Parts: sequence; structure tokens; C-alpha cells
Amino acid sequence: MTIRIAGIGTNLPEKVVTNDDLAQSIDTNDDWIRERAGIRERRVGGITSEMAVAACREAMAQAGAGPDDIGLLVLCTTSPDQTFPATSAVVQAGLGLSCGAFDVNAVCAGFLYGYVTAYGLMCVPGGPEKLLLCGSDAMASLTDWTDRGTAILFGDGAGAVVLERHVEGELLGWDLGADGSLGSILYCDHGGFIKMEGREVFRKAVRAVVGSVDKALVNAGIQASDVDVFLPHQANIRIIEAVASRVGIPMEKTHNVIAHTGNTSSASIPLAMAQAQADGVLEPGAIVCMTGFGGGMAWGTAVVRW
Ligand SMILES: CC(C)(COP(=O)(O)OP(=O)(O)OC[C@H]1O[C@@H](n2cnc3c(N)ncnc32)[C@H](O)[C@@H]1OP(=O)(O)O)[C@@H](O)C(=O)NCCC(=O)NCCS
Repeated sequence: MTIRIAGIGTNLPEKVVTNDDLAQSIDTNDDWIRERAGIRERRVGGITSEMAVAACREAMAQAGAGPDDIGLLVLCTTSPDQTFPATSAVVQAGLGLSCGAFDVNAVCAGFLYGYVTAYGLMCVPGGPEKLLLCGSDAMASLTDWTDRGTAILFGDGAGAVVLERHVEGELLGWDLGADGSLGSILYCDHGGFIKMEGREVFRKAVRAVVGSVDKALVNAGIQASDVDVFLPHQANIRIIEAVASRVGIPMEKTHNVIAHTGNTSSASIPLAMAQAQADGVLEPGAIVCMTGFGGGMAWGTAVVRW
């Protein structure tokens, strides 16, 4: 028995903010944002728990799982509804679950940290048969909409998966990394807004992610050319292009949503995964490489046989 992803769900708030909308209040323009970041619009106005509940419901429906089937809920978020209770508790109640629930905060690497943690918990004797893993972030609420260095990048969204024991699908290799000495290049104080040294984050992110993908591929005992589907964190299309080219995975194997979502932090990888599913490439046996990075800095990669 191994563990597979049995269902995927997503949720985006209704309100769309286009680049032209942003250009009305800050000194920027649509051409610059598209060219430098690959973003056309983003969704805002989401509440972390509400988006998570909606994404989880969709993932559970696709997996054919009811509330009583879920043995554990792991919620990845860097924008909790409150300091406490944990937002996972709010989502647990919203879904009518009776299982345990906890939050993971590794900022934009959250989904990878959550995935590896969840996978490990399912392998422990007595671990859950089915586990709900969700990334949900309301980054718009942490964004200073007068700061053009960050306002162009972030948006709200949620993505969820149901993990279940099965005969198909397994985690082949992974890597989780962090360098807390880089905290000052991307952070958000209590009650404050995101502060970022964009160019420095760009440089460090490319280096960290390339190293992480390389390590995870070695752990999996495969080469970059074996990867069928590449799901990178959706922060900036130029970071995705730089990583793909350095790792040796063609851009055609990436499945991106950034143009319409911006950077949704913990939600971005499951949102890209839902896009890959819609594109029809998540076939049983496909080699899927997910990788992410963010504040901390923290990063992570998981190489999965679908
Ligand atoms: C933020 C980011 C898009 C800025 O792009 P960049 O290419 O590094 O841009 P720079 O800061 O070097 O600025 C280049 C020029 O564009 C201008 N500029 C910066 N922001 C702008 C904006 N929003 N609109 C228009 N012009 C802008 C600058 O003033 C500068 O002009 P100059 O050459 O006349 O001095 C980019 O650094 C980035 O995406 N970094 C990574 C951020 C990230 O991924 N964060 C999340 C991690 S999870």
C-alpha cells in the first residue's frame, strides 16, 4: 500500500483586481507587471478559513470522501483568521469533521512542508486512511496596496487535496530546506504588511529551488528528464522560467495559474495541480515534481509518482 492524491479542490474569491485597476492608484502599468512577473490579475477579498472550507469540500467530493472518512486535517497557511484558535480548527468545524486538525506555517513553502508531514503521518502505524491537506492564504489582507514592490504580486486563494492509502501513487523523493538568517528579505510583522527586497528574494529563490529540486530528484533516483509534470510555486513567471531552465525541465511541462491568481502563497501549488488535472496530464504513473519557496526563507520539493 502507498499513498496517492485522490481528489483536488480549489477556491478563489470572486473579486478580480486587474493590473489596470492597480495602475489607477500606484505608479505601475499592465505591460511592466506582465513582463516582469507574468501576472495579469489576482483575486482578493478571501477569508482563509472560508476559502479552505470551499476547496476542501471540492477535493472531498472528487475523492468521494465524506466528513467521517477524513482521519486528519492539515491546513497550510501564513494568513490565519486569528492568532488562535488555529484556522484548521475553524475549517474542521466548517466541514463537520471529527478528526484532529493543525496548522502548518512555512509561508509559500507551506504546501510542500504540509505534504511531506502529512505523508509521514499516514505512514505511521495507525495513521489515517484518508487525510485532508489544504493550502489557503488571504495574502491581500497582508499587502500594502500603496507599495508597488509587493501589491503587484500577491492574491488570495485556496487549494486542497485528499490523500488516501492506495495501491498506486507514492512519494519517491523529497527535500525540505530553510535558512532563517534570510528572514529580513521577506517578512510581515504582527498587524503589519508584507515587506520584501524583491531582487534579493528572486536571486535566493532561484538558487534554493534549483538545489532543492536537484536533491529531491537524487533522492528519488531519477533525472530531470524523467519528470512529466512540473508544479512550481507561482510567485513570478521569470522565477519559474529560470528554475525550469536550470533544472533542465522544459516549460511545456509546467502548469501555471499565476497570470490569473498572482502569488497565493500556500495555495499556489494545489492551484497549479488542479490546472494540470484540467489539462489532463495527471495520469497514473506520471512523475510529478512540486517545488516551492518563500519567507523564512523556507523551501521544499516533493517528487511523486501519480
Ligand atoms: C518584485 C519584482 C517583480 C521586481 O522586478 P525586478 O525586475 O527585480 O525589478 P527592479 O526592482 O529591479 O526594478 C526594475 C525597474 O522597474 C521599476 N519598477 C519596480 N517596480 C515596478 C512596478 N511595480 N511597476 C513599474 N515599474 C516598477 C524600478 O523602479 C526599476 O526602474 P529603473 O530601472 O528605472 O530603476 C521581482 O524582483 C520579483 O518578483 N522578485 C521576487 C519576489 C517574490 O517572488 N516574492 C515572493 C516569494 S514567495
